[in-house]
Amino acid sequence: MQYIDIYNHSVYFYIEMKDLKIRICMGSSCYARGNAKNAILLQEWISAHPDTSLALGGTLCEGHCKDGPVIRLGERLFTAVDALALEEILGDQAGGS
Ligand code: FES
Repeated sequence: MQYIDIYNHSVYFYIEMKDLKIRICMGSSCYARGNAKNAILLQEWISAHPDTSLALGGTLCEGHCKDGPVIRLGERLFTAVDALALEEILGDQAGGS
């Protein structure tokens, strides 16, 4: 049990050291409209780019359901995010490929 606590603190510290946060709306509307898939794509992208300064997090409903799926990069809000838009966001905003 002690090992699990130490491990969780290590992960938390690692996330806090990241420079740029990408937050995916996990509210029911965004989740059903594409963020379930976008969350997987983001996790795969971050795993494939271990040196990225991007940290992934989730939010509850952002209040823009009709424009979803919604993703935030820093303070910037992106709407109607599909796989192609996500690829562009990662490439343009996070130095990804
Ligand atoms: S569920 Fe994402 S903005 Fe409402």
